[in-house]
Amino acid sequence: MSNSLFRTKKIESILAEGGDEGHGGGLKRVLTVKDLTFFGIAAILGAGSFSSLGEAVNKGGPGVVVLFIITGIACAFTAFCYSEFASRIPVAGSAYTYSYASFGEVFAWIIGWALIMEYSIGNIYVAFSWSDYFTSFLSKLDIHIPDYLTCSYAEAHQAVLGKLGAGVQTDELIHTWNTAPMIGGLRIILDLPAFIINILISILVYIGIKESRNFSNVMVILKLAIVALIILVGGGMIFALGTTGNWTPVNDAGVHSFMPNGFGGVMAAVSGVFFAYIGFDAVSVLAEESKNPQRDLPRGMILSLVVCTIIYILLTLTLTGAVNYRFLGVGDPLAFIFEKQNLNIGWMQLLVSICAVVAMTSVLLVFQMGQPRIWMSMSRDGLLPPVFQKIHPKYKTPSFASIVTGLVVGIPILFTDKKFVLDFTSIATLFAFVLVCGGVLLIPRKEKVAGRFHMPYINGQYIYPLLVALAIILILTYAKGYFSDAFNFDFSGNPDYMNPDPDKSVGFMDLATPKITILLFWGISIILSIVTFIKKYSLIPLMGVTTCLYLLTGMTKSNWAWFLGWLLIGLVIYFLYGYRKSKLAGRSS
Ligand code: ALA
Repeated sequence: MSNSLFRTKKIESILAEGGDEGHGGGLKRVLTVKDLTFFGIAAILGAGSFSSLGEAVNKGGPGVVVLFIITGIACAFTAFCYSEFASRIPVAGSAYTYSYASFGEVFAWIIGWALIMEYSIGNIYVAFSWSDYFTSFLSKLDIHIPDYLTCSYAEAHQAVLGKLGAGVQTDELIHTWNTAPMIGGLRIILDLPAFIINILISILVYIGIKESRNFSNVMVILKLAIVALIILVGGGMIFALGTTGNWTPVNDAGVHSFMPNGFGGVMAAVSGVFFAYIGFDAVSVLAEESKNPQRDLPRGMILSLVVCTIIYILLTLTLTGAVNYRFLGVGDPLAFIFEKQNLNIGWMQLLVSICAVVAMTSVLLVFQMGQPRIWMSMSRDGLLPPVFQKIHPKYKTPSFASIVTGLVVGIPILFTDKKFVLDFTSIATLFAFVLVCGGVLLIPRKEKVAGRFHMPYINGQYIYPLLVALAIILILTYAKGYFSDAFNFDFSGNPDYMNPDPDKSVGFMDLATPKITILLFWGISIILSIVTFIKKYSLIPLMGVTTCLYLLTGMTKSNWAWFLGWLLIGLVIYFLYGYRKSKLAGRSS
């Protein structure tokens, strides 16, 4: 069915095109399992732990450890699914390629389109965070860059309009806005360090994989060493100073608790925590550059995920043990705990700033390498113009696609802000994860081949429906209002509903979105239980779909609105270009 939107690409033909045969002069195969693991860690450990961890523990207290474990488990299920695909389809392209083989072309396009948010838009957030730490590092050395050159235009503008929300410090931003130089009617406010680091990273990625790999490995070793030092020094001080009571702080009701704001407080931190995990999947886009992708990609992905989960748990405990969670809502929490009023170790503060800059540089590098490789795959399939698959004759990198990536990250740095890009990135990535796990359910099972990763098949026929039933029974027993609340769409009792004060006012869809997504989640889980009972689906991908869908229920109305708008634009482009130019168009499948 050559004109079908769901035309799928045969795994054999993906392999033939992406393997050495199809591209004799293609990408260099130089990466080992160690390199891949390092790439994973390079991509995972960055702005999430250095910047947004503070906000997360501020909301949930030490109990955020539990959320790190839940999210780590969700990512592990997903990593197994990525690994299964990566071992069967060891070519560049990540979730995009996988969904082309399982769900069909239109889904593959949607995933490719969504991944732009993970790889490029996510990098905008990291570049902003990089700039925050870099400027604070410089200020410790007494070098000061003017505020109007280290601040995002959008954030300063929103501060002036009073749109940054309660609790956000806006004085400095408003001052920056009011004192910024002007050309004509335009205020000169931009995050120059974020812009410049993007240019430098783009050049590095353009020059080549081997050089990038060496650079990345050095950075990973350095950041692991310093993170270990933070945990050892911070952990030692917690016991030396006897501040272990911070792990069970007193909440507003006067009760000591590991989760001072309850499980709701912990779950409120979900997007920041999830962002911290994004990156393990980036390993899969390096398939064509690894020496033995079928064996090494899965190992690299899972190893990097395990290492980072352990680090996150220890870092969260170190933070929340050193300082009461209420004071941790700062942008640089890992440096903050060593400040005078806390653990008071000046040299650690400086080291942490250096570490943060290094950590985020490696995240930037890995994501910036991933994006051109996805576009290259899409171009090979005819969904993007042929120039996107052009490989540089000397550097052997996807040269044109690398330059476009630099522009896609660099230009929005001039007019977006951190919060916006963080939300965009998280929702798109979770969406991609759901489709990857779902895709594994759809591809036929295969016999184990020696030397290749093979996802263990656990028959979900009885286990999955039983787990869903058990979850519902537990909720009905211990959280009695849960379902009746989800079905209640009468918001007249909510003081902020249609509040005349525009800063407080929330509309119908703002309040209804979490309920709709929760109901959809349970509806899908029940449908999946029935289908699994009939089709005997494999438990690991099922759990991947379920846990990622659950994390998606944490997204707000505006996240969904922007994301769906983005998908719509993508679909228009697909119908105008990819649908007609696709290599599969006019072929019989
Ligand atoms: N996980 C990556 C980071 O935290 C995106 O920077």
